[in-house]
Amino acid sequence: MTRLVGLDIGTSSVKGLAIDQHGAVLTVVERGYPLSTPRPGWSEQDPDDWWRAATEVLDALDADRALGIGLSGQMHGLVALGADQRPLRPAILWNDGRTEAQCAEIEARVGLDRLIELTGNRALAGFTAPKLLWLREHEPETYEAIHAILLPKDYVRLRLCGVRATDVADASGTLLFDVPARRWSDELIGALDLDRSWLPEVRESPEVTAESAGGVPVVAGAGDQAAGALGVGVVAAGGPASVVLGTSGVVFSALDAYRHDPRARLHAFCHAVPGTWHVMGVMLSAAGSLHWLRHALGCEVDYDQLVAEAAEWEPGVEGLLFAPYLAGERTPHADPRARGGFLGLGVRHNRGALVRAVLEGVAFGLRDSLDLIVELGERPRVGRVSGGGARSHLWLEIVASVLDLPLELCTVDEGAAYGAALLAGVGTGVFASPAEAVEQCVRVTRVIEPRAEWVARYAEIRPRFQAAYPALRKVREA
Ligand code: XUL
Repeated sequence: MTRLVGLDIGTSSVKGLAIDQHGAVLTVVERGYPLSTPRPGWSEQDPDDWWRAATEVLDALDADRALGIGLSGQMHGLVALGADQRPLRPAILWNDGRTEAQCAEIEARVGLDRLIELTGNRALAGFTAPKLLWLREHEPETYEAIHAILLPKDYVRLRLCGVRATDVADASGTLLFDVPARRWSDELIGALDLDRSWLPEVRESPEVTAESAGGVPVVAGAGDQAAGALGVGVVAAGGPASVVLGTSGVVFSALDAYRHDPRARLHAFCHAVPGTWHVMGVMLSAAGSLHWLRHALGCEVDYDQLVAEAAEWEPGVEGLLFAPYLAGERTPHADPRARGGFLGLGVRHNRGALVRAVLEGVAFGLRDSLDLIVELGERPRVGRVSGGGARSHLWLEIVASVLDLPLELCTVDEGAAYGAALLAGVGTGVFASPAEAVEQCVRVTRVIEPRAEWVARYAEIRPRFQAAYPALRKVREA
């Protein structure tokens, strides 16, 4: 039987799966590792933890018998390697907020308009290039010793196959990549005084980069959002959008031709489908907000119970709003110092009210991203939803109603690892193209329609939500 393996080097674990040529999942394996926050706002991991977890997952999946392996993973992280190809320090991750000053420096050195023209993006704290500038300033000895840099999944590739390579989708999140031209940008590298030789070879996502030590072809793969979108069938403009309710929240639309928001309030990246791009809004705390609330309340209660309590409240929660900016925000505010808040608390509000306000606040945040995508000329008619939050029917109804968009659930909800396995199938000739892989493997099982009375109610409430960020900003600056 044909066996294709996909790995997702995530922020809390490596998740891997094996599928057959029809896309049926044969095995799923996961191995976790710690996240270290040595200072407030910092977020680091040991790249060798990823590698250890990946080897265990590959062994458990019997990957040496696979036809191909696809890699995906957390984007934007910086793995700095010395001359011996070993990490010089822990990796600095996508959700690390230490580089605000370096982001300002990049926008000043390159010029904001030129930066947006070249990369489709602003300099954002989690991206890779500002981390290099931070190292240059704060850890000059480490910086001087850099021989190469890699993104997280590509460190696993290096250990697996001995080559330094990445893919266009993941490279798009470095701020060193010419996204429209799908190649490293010498202009940016020069403007930031970085060394071109540090960068890995870059390939389209389905291309084979090398073979594993066990002789299995390993395809370039993709950053987790592009791989995850492919895994739910988001491959072409005019098709469904990907809506993710994971720790972070995402709305993602495929584009047939390159386009970007002129103010870069959305990310514009290369897609894992060769010759295509995508736009995406990312909110940093989606299911992460619910996770935070559960811990903050000190409750041992499980999520199902919390959501059942939330369901007892009407939309709008009698005037209670939640601003979901617990870890700063990317889309649409691009503000690493943004913070969250409950507004409109009253004595009648109980635990269920807080939970419902969180579910609704996250949905409003996603709507901000969707509106920017629509402004850019893409108007998805349906969303394909994935991520842990997609297990809650109430949350899906709230999100469908706030977005005013039907949401579809797929048979397989294994996220980026599934998309990576499909890419392995394309690279090894099992499927002729990503679109054919989707055609043969991705099936919708359920549709959650917006509820008409909720759509109207949420449209009334939304201006109050949008007023919350400027109000919270004033509080912060006072
Ligand atoms: C995408 C992003 C996250 C990370 C972690 O821009 O930052 O999806 O890749 O999952």
